[in-house]
Amino acid sequence: MRAVILYDSRSSGGSTERLIDSIGMELANNGAYVEKAKCKATGDYSFIQDFDVVIMGAPIYYLLVSSQLLGALIQSNLKKYLKRKKIALFLTCGSPEPMATLLYLPQLKMHLVRNRILAERIFAPQQLSDPEVIESFVEELCDAYKKDTRRRNASLAWTDEAIELLDAVPSFFRNRIKIATEEYAEEMGYREITLEVIEEAKSETGGL
Ligand SMILES: Cc1cc2nc3c(=O)[nH]c(=O)nc-3n(C[C@H](O)[C@H](O)[C@H](O)COP(=O)(O)O)c2cc1C
Repeated sequence: MRAVILYDSRSSGGSTERLIDSIGMELANNGAYVEKAKCKATGDYSFIQDFDVVIMGAPIYYLLVSSQLLGALIQSNLKKYLKRKKIALFLTCGSPEPMATLLYLPQLKMHLVRNRILAERIFAPQQLSDPEVIESFVEELCDAYKKDTRRRNASLAWTDEAIELLDAVPSFFRNRIKIATEEYAEEMGYREITLEVIEEAKSETGGL
């Protein structure tokens, strides 16, 4: 699994950045390749095409999700590149979980209604450095990702010609193309991946 953590925080080296480092370490311990990127409201997010999972998180300041992450979802091309991506969400805040779930998480989720959310977590101050809470978030995310991949593999068959075409792709890109094609086929309700489906997925997703 290739995961990118997109985050925002006003404080450099603050609680959110420390949490991200712990989440990143835990993901790497689970065999994932992980990168992190700090959000800019007007950034270019085409790089997220290279990742299977996008983990988004930020602190709450004055009742709102930190502005660069929220701004990126509204102003930049982030939403375009998040199409069909699997997502995980987390927030750091001073409020208790029920309030944060009700008031703050929807600020992110309203932009992600078509995404599969693998895991979501509120990190209250006392949980920010609790290894068990961080481990359980990462475990939930990895389990959901594995289940999704298994379910997709079981329900989709590749024709011999399609497999041949996939095998001809350089190995670095092969897995990315396989996943993107399967995600497209799944969304379209196809049961079989043929050469035509690969072509269709390629043109619909802007080249996979
Ligand atoms: C200026 C400021 C405003 C905050 N406003 C809220 C808020 O409205 N609701 C909340 O639950 N937490 C609030 N918090 C708590 C932060 O969300 C929490 O401490 C978070 O972990 C800070 O992340 P950081 O260390 O990366 O900046 C606020 C913190 C600060 C410094």
